[in-house]
Amino acid sequence: MLVLNGPNLGRLGIREPDVYGSATFDDLAALCRETGRRLGLSVEVRQTDDEAEMVRWVHEAADGRLPVVINPAAFTHYSYALRDALAQRTAPLVEVHISNPAAREEFRHTSVVAGVATGTIAGFGMTSYVLALQAVAGLLAEDPA
Ligand code: DQA
Repeated sequence: MLVLNGPNLGRLGIREPDVYGSATFDDLAALCRETGRRLGLSVEVRQTDDEAEMVRWVHEAADGRLPVVINPAAFTHYSYALRDALAQRTAPLVEVHISNPAAREEFRHTSVVAGVATGTIAGFGMTSYVLALQAVAGLLAEDPA
């Protein structure tokens, strides 16, 4: 399965630590891989600042029937291209956020991708990813197809 991360998430640890914490993207990737191992999931973690690259990765997941955990970062709030790509999903899809966008600026209150996700987890810091991976493992256990 894929854990996909959008723009500026490669700068975790440096970027607004009051909002996103002091752990780096490498720390996050290691946490996801370790959580995947514990849950019996093979997890590949990627990050891009490029919308086109993200859309290609989502197509790859749809074609491969791969579950996806995605933090679309700022794409969440405006990328209809990403939403349309995610709508083609063929496996569980969990939207995650480190912060709680609903408790922040008005423009973050809208997610254009939430409606095509299986569900959304937000506001738990890096633990949002752990919870999302647990959700995927649970869904796969219910329906291993
Ligand atoms: C974010 C929230 C988004 O509003 C923001 O643009 C991000 C990170 C989060 O994980 O809290 O880049 O997705």
